[in-house]
Amino acid sequence: MVKREHWGTRYGFLMAAIGSAIGLGNIWRFPYITYKSGGGAFFIPYLFALITAGIPLLVLEIGLGAKTRRSSPLAFEKLTGKKRYGWVGWWATIGSLLLVSYYSVIMAWTLSYLIKAPTLAWGTDPNTYFMKDFLGWTGNPLNLGGIRLEILIALVVVWTINWLIVGKGVRKGIECVTKIMIPLSWIIIAILVIRSLTFPGAMEGVNWYLNPDFSKLRNPRVWLDAYGQVFFTLSVGQGAMIIYGSYLKGKSDIVNNSFIIAFADSIFAFLAGFAVFGTLGFMASQMGVGIDEVVVSGAELAFVTYPKAISMLGAGSGIIGVLFFFLLLMAGLSSSICLTEVSTGGLMGSFKMSRKKAATVACGVSLLAGIIYTTGGGFGWLNLMDNYINYFSLALVGALEALLIGWVFKARRFRIWVNFTSEICVGRWWDWCIKLVTPFILVTTLVWTSMSILKAGYPIEAPYPSLALLLGFLIILAGMIAAFLCVRLTKVDVTREKFKV
Ligand code: PHE
Repeated sequence: MVKREHWGTRYGFLMAAIGSAIGLGNIWRFPYITYKSGGGAFFIPYLFALITAGIPLLVLEIGLGAKTRRSSPLAFEKLTGKKRYGWVGWWATIGSLLLVSYYSVIMAWTLSYLIKAPTLAWGTDPNTYFMKDFLGWTGNPLNLGGIRLEILIALVVVWTINWLIVGKGVRKGIECVTKIMIPLSWIIIAILVIRSLTFPGAMEGVNWYLNPDFSKLRNPRVWLDAYGQVFFTLSVGQGAMIIYGSYLKGKSDIVNNSFIIAFADSIFAFLAGFAVFGTLGFMASQMGVGIDEVVVSGAELAFVTYPKAISMLGAGSGIIGVLFFFLLLMAGLSSSICLTEVSTGGLMGSFKMSRKKAATVACGVSLLAGIIYTTGGGFGWLNLMDNYINYFSLALVGALEALLIGWVFKARRFRIWVNFTSEICVGRWWDWCIKLVTPFILVTTLVWTSMSILKAGYPIEAPYPSLALLLGFLIILAGMIAAFLCVRLTKVDVTREKFKV
C-alpha cells in the first residue's frame, strides 16, 4: 500500500487551508454583500453565521478528513460503515469539479487582465471592452457564438499551473506554493488598502461600506445571505477541507486550526472591503455621483468598475491594476489548487490511481468542461452554474454531511473525538449547530432559491431562456447520477476499516 502523504508542518497546512478559503468570495463578494446588507450592521449576521454554522462545519470537515485519513468519498463510507453514504462524498467531489471548471475560467480572465493592466488596454469604455470585445457575450447562453481564443489560451495556462502544482504532491507542490502565495497575498492587500485609503473621496466610500443600517437585519434574506457567504468563503460543502484535513498527521489539532482559518479568512475579506470601497469612493467622487451608482459585485466589479477606477488614477495607475489582478490570481489559484486536489485525491483513493495520473485526469476533465465558458455564451453559463452549484452542491452536501454526522454517526461521539487532539475544545453547542441549525438553514436556502428560480427565472432582472435553465439543471442531475456510478465502481472497501485515533 502506498503511504498517505502528509503536510510538512502545521504552518504549511494552515497556509494551504487559508489559501483555499481566501478567494473570489473574499474580494468580490464580501464587500458588496456587506454594503447591500446593512454595512457595519451586517457583521452581526455574519459573525452569527460563522459561529453557528461556518466554524462547526469546518471542524466537521477537517475532523472527518483527519480521523478517517481518506478522501471525501471514502471518508463518508469509512465513518458510517456503509458504502451508500459514499454518494455524499462523490457528489461533493463532482460538485468541486464542476465548480473549478468555471472558477478557473475566471482565473483565465484575471490572467489576461493582469497582462492588460500595465497599458490599461481596456481603454475608455471598460464595460463594452469586457462584455463585447473580450468575452464576446452574446446575451443568451443558448447562443454560444465561437470560442474566444484569448480566454482559451489563458485557461490552458491556468490548468497547466494547477496540474504542475497538484501533480507534485501535497508537501512539495501544494504546501510549498501556498506558503509563498498566502503571505504574499496579505502583503498585497495591505498595500492596496493603504493606497486606496489615500485616494480623494476614499473615506466617503468606506463610510458607505461600514455605515450601519440595523433595519436591514429584519429581512430574513440578509441572514440567509450571511450563511451563504460564510459557506462559500470557508470552502465547506465541496470536500475541500476533508481532503486537506486527511493529510494531517495523527495527533494534529483540529478545533483551534478551524478557528484560525475562519478568522484569517474573515479578516482578509474585511480588509478587501476597504480596498474596494476606497477605490469606489474615489471613482464616485471623480464622477460626481453617489456610490450607489457605481457599486457592483462579482465579475463586473473586477473587470469593469475596477479597471474604470484605475484608468482615472492617472500616473502610477498601471501598478495598482497589476497588484489588484495579481492578488485576484493568487487568491483564486490557491482555491483552485484545493478544488483540483479534491478530485485528484478522490481518484487516487477510490480507484488506486497514481498521483500523476489522477491529477492529469482531474485537470484534463476540468479543462474540457471549462471550454463552454470560453464561448460567447459562456458568461451566461458561468453565472447559471455558479448559482446552481452554490445551492445544489454546496448547500446540499453541507446539509447532508451535518445530518450524517449529527444523527447517524452521532454528533457527541464525533465531538469527543475531535476534542481529543485539539488545543481548545468545542462544547455541546457544536452538537446542536450540526444537528439542527446548519441543516435547517441550508435546506431553507435550498428550497427558497429553487422556488425563486421556478417563479421568477434566473437572473431575476433579465431571465435566461427556460431551456438554458433546464439544461443547467440536467447537468447537475447528471453529476448526481454519476456520483452513484462512482460509488458502484469504487474498488476499495473501507467500511470495515479501523480508525487510528
Ligand atoms: N472559498 C473560495 C472563495 O472564497 C471558494 C471555494 C469554495 C474554494 C469551495 C474551495 C471550495 O473564493
